[in-house]
Amino acid sequence: MSWDALYSSAFDRVRKNLGKIGGILLAYNTNIDAIKYLDGNDLERRVETVGEDEVLHYAGELPRMVENVGQLLGSILWSIKHGKAAELFVESCSTRFYMREWGWDELRMGGQVGIMANLLGGVYNVPVIAHVPQVSRLQAGLFKDGPIYVPKAENGKLELVHPKEFQADEENCIHYIYEFPRGFRVFDFEAPRENRFIGAADDYNPNVYIRPEFREHFEEIAGRARLAIISGLQTLTRKNYREPFEEMVRHLEILNARDVPVHLEFAFTQDEIVRRSLIDVLGQFHSVGLNEVELASIMEVMGEKGLAEKLLADDPVDPIAVTGAMLRLAERTSVRRIHFHTYGYYLALTDYKGDFVRDALLFAALAAAAKAKLGDVRSIDAVVKAMDVPVNERAKTVEERLAGEYGMKNGIADINGYQLSFAPTKVVTRPKSTVGIGDTISSSAFVGEFALH
Ligand code: AMP
Ligand code: GLC
Repeated sequence: MSWDALYSSAFDRVRKNLGKIGGILLAYNTNIDAIKYLDGNDLERRVETVGEDEVLHYAGELPRMVENVGQLLGSILWSIKHGKAAELFVESCSTRFYMREWGWDELRMGGQVGIMANLLGGVYNVPVIAHVPQVSRLQAGLFKDGPIYVPKAENGKLELVHPKEFQADEENCIHYIYEFPRGFRVFDFEAPRENRFIGAADDYNPNVYIRPEFREHFEEIAGRARLAIISGLQTLTRKNYREPFEEMVRHLEILNARDVPVHLEFAFTQDEIVRRSLIDVLGQFHSVGLNEVELASIMEVMGEKGLAEKLLADDPVDPIAVTGAMLRLAERTSVRRIHFHTYGYYLALTDYKGDFVRDALLFAALAAAAKAKLGDVRSIDAVVKAMDVPVNERAKTVEERLAGEYGMKNGIADINGYQLSFAPTKVVTRPKSTVGIGDTISSSAFVGEFALH
């Protein structure tokens, strides 16, 4: 079958079966994304006002967190120069004020949980229970209508209500997202690809604050879930990770005792100790989702420097290096499913077999193309419209290498007792924005797999 035919059949079957999945638990990070599409002249003027000496240093090396406006502007330049995403905690009040004054073009749902809740609940119509650290009016208003619930505890009794009905007036957790297109120019820098820098003016998500309703009623909440996705651990540091980690492991044990498969969305985790600790608990997850930078960062702390370098050396990313790294990770942790995504293709390594793994990847690629094209996916019909986006040409060489090395056929190969599944993706030439595409991919593929199986 051609890839187009496989795409179309995967979409039809996932769509037909979405109703059978049951409840999905999403924890822990939800916030408000204030998106600013950068303007080169404006950015240059701002750098000159602060003084190039205060800024340019950070374009070479990111600070650990943002403590002044010079570091903010320098970090934005770092992202532009490398074409890479970065996210830092903004501690200083005056910098938070500066970002607010600078303004935004669009307010959107943010955080892996918020984005996945709107997609799975608001678009796919699959019931979700979401952890929202702070339910402000603005935050609640960003949730789509549909079967999206947050736990509410009254007199020790748990209720599930839509965030708009939660009726609390808690704080706004705002992340300022500075987006730039490929080829964006400022000073001598030119962005090699579209991406964004995120400044998190938020005291809850970066510390993985877990609400009392979740701590006190987790058994009951878990009882409503058939699947779970955990995210938001990436901003923890060696100083604050122990307590949220302990609570997360308790949640994992409860979910595992109920046979609820749990996916970890592994975003880029700067702190090496936190990254190592995540690898140590990975075996308690069913599945993990990551991109090339994240996989390389894991190989680095596993002592696989050569593999780490290979993962970052080529464009498109060398699929043989990716497979090698996924095998190392699966063998070290026993995690049952590893879903890798990069610009142009996805791979999944599973300790179980079947076409449904590949088909779920294809469904996810369609959802990702819709997200890239539209920024916000409003309905499942918008997903199928992304069929028009052509399959990435460069994925052909990737497919040929996988066929040569592992005898892959129709996107499936057997390696050392694992199944390797491949999907060439549809890449949108001029994406509306880049934030949240990774979340769309990982959640669609994980949930799609259970719809098909
Ligand atoms: P992350 O790096 O985790 O945020 O995820 C970004 C992912 O989105 C990449 O790995 C690509 O697979 C996908 N992606 C990025 N840009 C596009 C685009 N223009 N069209 C389709 N998919 C994209
Ligand atoms: C991180 C950011 C959040 C953004 C999300 C997109 O969670 O903190 O602002 O919406 O990534 O994936």
